[in-house]
Amino acid sequence: MLTIGVDIGGTKIAAGVVDEDGRLLATATFPTDPTDPRAIELAVITAVAQLREGREIAGVGVAAAGYISPRRDGVVFAPNIAWRDYPLRDRLSAGIDLPIVIENDANAAGWAEFRFGSGRHVENMVMLTVGTGLGGAIVADGRLLRGAFGAAGEIGHMEMVPRGHYCGCGHEGCWEMYASGRALARAARNAAVAYPDRAHALVEAAGGPGQKIKGTHVTEAAMAGDPLAVELLASLGTWLGAGISDLAAIVDPELAVVGGGVVGAGELLMGPTRESFRRNLTARGFRGELRIEPAELGNEAGMVGAADLARH
Ligand code: BGC
Ligand code: NA
Ligand code: ZN
Repeated sequence: MLTIGVDIGGTKIAAGVVDEDGRLLATATFPTDPTDPRAIELAVITAVAQLREGREIAGVGVAAAGYISPRRDGVVFAPNIAWRDYPLRDRLSAGIDLPIVIENDANAAGWAEFRFGSGRHVENMVMLTVGTGLGGAIVADGRLLRGAFGAAGEIGHMEMVPRGHYCGCGHEGCWEMYASGRALARAARNAAVAYPDRAHALVEAAGGPGQKIKGTHVTEAAMAGDPLAVELLASLGTWLGAGISDLAAIVDPELAVVGGGVVGAGELLMGPTRESFRRNLTARGFRGELRIEPAELGNEAGMVGAADLARH
């Protein structure tokens, strides 16, 4: 049985036909403006129509960056997209005559890693997706935890810093404000102002004034050995590790999988993440200790997981 998974990302819609073993048989991508819900819907409808041609498709899973309704039919709230109580499934059904389920983007990616990636040998894991925001997925005893209201695993909005940075969700000090691509960019821009002599590589990578620095520039510069970028990435890892120790207190998983473009930096991110986790873990040496591993499926995890969840 084939299903289609669609990932609504910050800059593009990626859709793919996925088989029961998590293999991607065909893909289609369309650029999109994440601030325009109509444009997003049109792109999803077009992608699905294109991929369906000549294939028997049983259903569609759509991964979206926000709080999903418990019935998996819409987005109730999205910190970084203009969705409030948004009936996404109905909107899409107008142009797609297949069963559709809406999934949280990080849940979809986490499910894919659990079934086919880094987590395929464990029963209890958490996934953290480090992108524009910080997403989470919790798999407990082999099941994706959805919660009473569909919002389990919304870890990016746990308060890490009292009266900290303002978040797109309207609150202050959310974990996502310290451990996300956007947080990395903010820290880099600030550093470019505070320490101009140390920021040459970053400013050059951004091809303009320091205010143009993005998270990807930091990751690339760090991989090329730039000391400031290495520090910025390590700081992100420190925040990640601290929060993962909190997740250990709540769900006690065997594995924490970290995904997103930043994991391309390998040990530059994972080293400080693990170190900070160990420093913060209560009962260390007496309790079992989770492993922290990078995601295996990369950018395709959202599509693959959404397609697989459409089947379950
Ligand atoms: C949203 C989550 C989403 C995550 C990653 C967060 O800001 O609240 O729903 O999974 O970003 O996109
Ligand atoms: Na989630
Ligand atoms: Zn928040």
